[in-house]
This record gives sequence, C-alpha cells and structure tokens, in this order.
Amino acid sequence: MLADQFSQTFRNEHRQIRDALLELIGAFQERDKPRIKSLLDRIATYTGPHFRYEEEALYPALVEIFGPEYIEELLGDHDRAIGTAKRLLQLAEKESLSDEDIAEATKLIRSILPHVSDCDGLSIMVERLPEEKVEQILQRRDQSLRAGLNLLQWAEQIRKRPTTASA
Ligand SMILES: [Fe+2]
Ligand SMILES: [Fe+2]
Repeated sequence: MLADQFSQTFRNEHRQIRDALLELIGAFQERDKPRIKSLLDRIATYTGPHFRYEEEALYPALVEIFGPEYIEELLGDHDRAIGTAKRLLQLAEKESLSDEDIAEATKLIRSILPHVSDCDGLSIMVERLPEEKVEQILQRRDQSLRAGLNLLQWAEQIRKRPTTASA
C-alpha cells in the first residue's frame, strides 16, 4: 500500500531530524562550535525539502480531514521553526557562548521537538487519503529533494509566509 510506503519514508525523515536536534542540544551544551555549525547545516538540509513538500502537498491534502484551523497551526509551527533556525545560527556565530546562550538554545531546540512528533502522527490520517493523493505527495517530495533548497533558501526564495520569532 502506498500509504505504508509514505509512512515509512516520513518516519525516517522525522528520525533524522529528531536525532540531529537532540545532538544539537548536546553540541550547544559542550560549546562545540564546529559540531553546532555542522548540525545546523544538516538540519537545514533535511528540513528544507521536508517542510516544502509538507506545505506544498501534504498539509493541503489534509485540510479535508482536519479542517483549516489545525493545518494553520502546523504552518504556524513551521513559521516558528524557521525563526528558531535563524536565531540558532546567530547564537552559533557568537564569539563565546554564555550560560544564558546555552539555556536559550536548549529551550529553542526543545520548542521544535513537539512538531516533529505531531507531524509524524499525520501518517495515520494519510492512510485515509485516496491513493492518487498519496502518489502526488510522494511526487512533490521527489521534486523538493531534487530542487534541494535548504530551509532558509526555501523560506527566503520560495515560501510566501512570514517567519516568526520563537519562544
Ligand atoms: Fe514533518
Ligand atoms: Fe512539518
């Protein structure tokens, strides 16, 4: 079943994002700047195409199930995640990281985690979509991966929504 294929792919993407975010908390706590930067880079590379196909295909397809309000919440989570990514990049550029910086980074990264698990749960609703819709979502995913824009490139060049400052 195509929905099962989708769920597995989707779960693996969330695992990669989850693991990189958790590692990033560790890297901030160790004040390991090269690791912080490479993890931020990795996270931007994973989340760019992922957020993109979610917003261009998956989330719109789920409006008929959830109604528009919950989909707006998911988009709001993305707005904040992008704002958070920008702030984390600023922190990573600092000459030295204070205790307050580490606490801020930890709080910011944790603020993204619930979206990772909430988003993964959408798979259970994807099972109720017609096969052609799931096919379209997977196609959009391929296109996003091929375009290969990272999170901020996509947010700045393509995405229409404003990004918001995070918690
Ligand atoms: Fe997701
Ligand atoms: Fe998402």
